Amino acid sequence: MTDTSAPLNSRYDVAAPRWGDKMRTLGYYDGYLGFLSAPENQSGPDVSVTDVGCGTASFAEAWVAINGAPASLTLIDPSRAMLERGLAALQCRDVEPGLIQALLGQAAPRPSDVVMAAHVIEHCPDPLTALRQLRDLLRPGGRLYLVVSKPHWCNSIIWLQWRHRTFRQDEITALLGDAGFHTDRVYAFPSGPPSRTSRGIVATRTG
Ligand SMILES: C[S@@+](CC[C@H](N)C(=O)[O-])C[C@H]1O[C@@H](n2cnc3c(N)ncnc32)[C@H](O)[C@@H]1O
Repeated sequence: MTDTSAPLNSRYDVAAPRWGDKMRTLGYYDGYLGFLSAPENQSGPDVSVTDVGCGTASFAEAWVAINGAPASLTLIDPSRAMLERGLAALQCRDVEPGLIQALLGQAAPRPSDVVMAAHVIEHCPDPLTALRQLRDLLRPGGRLYLVVSKPHWCNSIIWLQWRHRTFRQDEITALLGDAGFHTDRVYAFPSGPPSRTSRGIVATRTG
């Protein structure tokens, strides 16, 4: 188990070599595929996409598997070890992402059509600020694909390792509204660990 007294970033550096396999064996990659392949959640190819807190880029990889290569893809994560593995995973799919080593709020790339963020705002000190920072990464009218942890005993176990937070559905949709989003759809992962730990949300930047 990871040393919970170590800074979060170094803990994710340590976790990076096995993170991609973990996402697959626990069903998160398949869960992301299911979320993005729902017909109303699919997208055309001519979009710019940014994956924030990308880890080994499982969510971005699922985007490419479902929608094909986007016009541009940017990965943001404070962990260099995660970014390097995300780069390798996407290069295997003939996509060359831009890499930004930064925390959410530290980087200001050109606003994207799509922002993806899976299991990231759980780590941010203030979720409303984090959602506003995600909004600022989007062009007006752009779409956020968010995956967030929800209250469940499985997350109590995960908390022992990662000290993340969870959000009730009414709480996260209210926060999204306050941050300048309209919640378009809430997605229930159908099976496995993702069905117990997480929910997917598609939201549009209103302002
Ligand atoms: C639970 S992992 C999720 C990784 C990936 N999105 C996935 O679904 O596999 C959280 C990731 O967010 C990154 N992270 C942690 N705090 C962050 C912050 N404040 N801003 C951006 N990324 C952060 C970590 O380095 C880690 O890669």
